[in-house]
Amino acid sequence: MSLPENVDVVGVGFGPSNLSLAIALEEHPVNGSGEPIAARFFERLPAFSWHRHMLLPSATMQVAFLKDLATFRNPVSRFSFVSYLHATNRLVQFVNNKSFFPTRQEFHKYLEWAESSVSDQVSYGTEVTAMRLRSPDRIELVSRSATGGVQAVTASNVVISTGLVPRMPAGIERDDRVWHSSEFLDQYARQDPSELKTVAVVGAGQSAAEITRFLYDSLPHAQVYAILPSYGYSVADDTPFANQVFDPAAVDEYYFGTDQTRDAFWRYHSNTNYSVVDDEVIRELYRRTYHEDVLNVRRLHFVNLTKVEEIKRTGNETRASLKSLLSGAIDLDVDAIVFATGYHSMEPARVLGELDQHCLRDEAGRYRVERDYRLVTTPELSCGIYLQGGTEHTHGLTSSLLSNIAIRSGEIAESIVNSRAGVRAVAY
Ligand code: FDA
Ligand code: NAP
Repeated sequence: MSLPENVDVVGVGFGPSNLSLAIALEEHPVNGSGEPIAARFFERLPAFSWHRHMLLPSATMQVAFLKDLATFRNPVSRFSFVSYLHATNRLVQFVNNKSFFPTRQEFHKYLEWAESSVSDQVSYGTEVTAMRLRSPDRIELVSRSATGGVQAVTASNVVISTGLVPRMPAGIERDDRVWHSSEFLDQYARQDPSELKTVAVVGAGQSAAEITRFLYDSLPHAQVYAILPSYGYSVADDTPFANQVFDPAAVDEYYFGTDQTRDAFWRYHSNTNYSVVDDEVIRELYRRTYHEDVLNVRRLHFVNLTKVEEIKRTGNETRASLKSLLSGAIDLDVDAIVFATGYHSMEPARVLGELDQHCLRDEAGRYRVERDYRLVTTPELSCGIYLQGGTEHTHGLTSSLLSNIAIRSGEIAESIVNSRAGVRAVAY
């Protein structure tokens, strides 16, 4: 596919956030010039994919299906989850199923369905590797395809949405036996299950609990160790009042609040999302361990108040040195160990490259971001650089989540359309 030389918007990364933006741009009324916004998206993966290696069979969504790519912005969008159900002849059955929370596998199919209508705007297998200022109102982006081809495109706006970054404990490296949860199904598929006799999962968040359940059910011969930094899993608060932290209105209250306001959001409500587990998954795991009590067998082990200090690899052997606050040092030999130790928030500096020096930061070294998700830049740069993700410090808890993507993408689309006048005529 040949790329347009100049476009209005380049999106870096094509997960749900920039997919939602592509839809918002398509549905946004064009401005005075009457010309639609020209957008091009780059995605380093070979095809559309949303945390594919965590598409565990029984994992369900953590947002209601109406928090899809478009509905909160445009309830009659043809890209809504309800439209998808209608198009696939499952609307009636979905309602009969009486759940607000589809499986992640179904939601993934919905995202792929929506993507198929905008896929002509996306270059897959193409990683954006550099950005530079071509002129005050034109950014040049350089991308590299999987086959090594290098392409450049210029744009008056860039929307960075490169996603969360897997976090491993300091000093522990990934390999064929030591995995991060983000690569779980890929790594698991490479194994002979009969050789996975002892496996361990580190962490007490949603990823850890789901993987523990999956390994226990998939490997009936295996010993499964859940290594928890806490004394047990804690429940994700999704009750109605707490859930208001994900409302579109909460973004304004967070953004325009004081430092104390923002601190309070995190202090009181990080248990809506971080280091917590859905009630249903907790109960399912407890049911399994209780059943083992009844049968007087034990292959599901919860190692509470414990962290992994070190991993030693010798040939095919993998030894985890654990430090337990209950029983001190423990050595555990495993055939595989999964670190479900969470993620760092999106970090745009690498992809910004030399443009980073034009992006202003606050006293704590964090990017300054306008309410419309546009980075505050030095005066010599008049093009728009927007962030979808990585704005937890300015826009709050929804920054890395799906809850607000329809509204957020609409706000970014609006900002781009409104600022288009006067920035398109610059020659490449
Ligand atoms: P996302 O990470 O999905 O996409 C970013 C894309 O950018 C990736 O495809 C990546 O390959 C690409 N990319 C990175 N660098 C690039 C470069 N230089 N050039 C080109 N492409 C590049 N939230 C929620 O609200 N409800 C939920 O149910 C869940 N469920 C969930 C499950 C699991 C297993 C995880 C780990 C996380 C969630 N989340 C979630 C949170 C999650 O962050 C959110 O669902 C979305 O993935 C956010 O979408 P984005 O498009 O912002 O990032
Ligand atoms: P998370 O919520 O950040 O949990 C990470 C866990 O790892 C925490 O228990 C943390 O403990 C622990 N941990 C971190 N560093 C550690 C270390 N060095 N040693 C031992 N333990 C350590 O990460 P997550 O479970 O991957 O969830 C991330 C996001 O993905 C969340 O938004 C979640 O909702 C989402 N998700 C959704 C689904 C789904 O939709 N079904 C599935 C999986 C994940 P501390 O609390 O002590 O830091």
